[in-house]
Amino acid sequence: MLEQSNELAAWDRDHFFHPSTHMGMHARGEMPNRVMAGGEGATIWDTNGKKSLDAFAGLYCVNVGYGRQKIADAIAEQARNLAYYHAYVGHGTEASIRLSKMIIDRAPKGMSRVYYGLSGSDANETNIKLIWYYNNVLGRPEKKKIISRWRGYHGSGVMTGSLTGLAGFHNAFDLPRAPILHTEAPYYYRREDRSLSEEQFAQYCADQLEKLIVAQGPETIAAFIGEPVLGTGGIVPPPKGYWGKIQAVLKKYDILLVADEVVTGFGRLSSMFGSDHYGIQPDLITIAKGLTSAYAPLSGVIVGDKVWKVLVEGSDKLGPIGHGWTYSAHPICAAAGVANLELIDELDLVKNAGETGAYFRKGLTDAVAGHKNVGDVRGEGMLAAVEFVEDKDDRKFFDAAKKIGPQVAAALATSGVIGRAMPQGDILGFAPPLCLTREEADTVVAKTVEAVKAVLG
Ligand SMILES: Cc1ncc(COP(=O)(O)O)c(C=O)c1O
Repeated sequence: MLEQSNELAAWDRDHFFHPSTHMGMHARGEMPNRVMAGGEGATIWDTNGKKSLDAFAGLYCVNVGYGRQKIADAIAEQARNLAYYHAYVGHGTEASIRLSKMIIDRAPKGMSRVYYGLSGSDANETNIKLIWYYNNVLGRPEKKKIISRWRGYHGSGVMTGSLTGLAGFHNAFDLPRAPILHTEAPYYYRREDRSLSEEQFAQYCADQLEKLIVAQGPETIAAFIGEPVLGTGGIVPPPKGYWGKIQAVLKKYDILLVADEVVTGFGRLSSMFGSDHYGIQPDLITIAKGLTSAYAPLSGVIVGDKVWKVLVEGSDKLGPIGHGWTYSAHPICAAAGVANLELIDELDLVKNAGETGAYFRKGLTDAVAGHKNVGDVRGEGMLAAVEFVEDKDDRKFFDAAKKIGPQVAAALATSGVIGRAMPQGDILGFAPPLCLTREEADTVVAKTVEAVKAVLG
């Protein structure tokens, strides 16, 4: 067994190009290569039998938890009956049609159709193309720029990596590309002018957006994209009143709104969609992760009525839309989606995200907010973050080279709890499965206290 696992480790180092990994350290064997083997509920284990409480649900995606037989059965049955047929030229399967109905039934008002992909990145790529197509059909070919936020995360393709507003996803990749622009991150804790109230800061963000639109020419701005809660950029709920003020600006200049709900869709914020949670009325919604709880890869763009009508006009003028993926609406993934959404309802997970999420965040706040190096504890629903600072009163951030966030996450992992060191800033993020129990929440809090003490005293 030992020999076999050594062999596996060597194959891993020599042949597997891992995403978001320090390539040299991995290849030289200077970092752990953990081989995962199984999971149940919020717990996963590796081939050495070491168990961990996964308080990040993989990459905030295993929302129903690991080991759900119902979804495994749905996948197996679909694979046996019909593993694949394409969705081009009006084809479908019962699973893909049923799933579309279930998504629209759960979506915010005014949503019309679902276009399927396999990842959040490709869904946002679809969004960009639909936005450009929409404005071409409407006869305004100059209206093409898309505004995203600094610290937004929307994927890591060429265009979606450009939408993403994090330096680590741009460096040495020649990104961001035109016609993508970035505006102020709605990150109250890191606001430059610390005298501002939350509402004043929300107004400042809206003013910054409007300034950018006016400077560029409103006739050139097609869309604005944002996550209801900033995710990978630091798990940051919006300042009070933010979305209302942003939407007023977008309306004024006839700019489409894309809500990227890859993380927040299907219950994570304690509402089925983050848009409903914050009173956002999007024209397009990006979904992925929680759609299948990652039991199979599936993403989608939910297209609102206003855009859909113009797309139909486009087909009538130009013929079938020239946009398709081989695996769009893949039957196995769609079957996983149907079973997953049923399970979310059966287990009342949206409610649990609210109740246990609030319990977890309160526990975390009570336990660590008083620490001299904890500047902020924040979150919403089943999302939480702890931000570390060198000096709390002066809000002096640590030198990134000290890697305080990664050190705390590593100490936590050693103790058997997985959190995530968010990529920009010293921020420990949590996004547990929506089925988290109070006992598990207590464990995460207790282990976090120990990890913070171990690194920061
Ligand atoms: C808000 C958001 N959008 C898009 C993506 C990209 O999804 P994927 O990694 O499936 O391409 C992510 C991934 O974390 C995300 O958090």
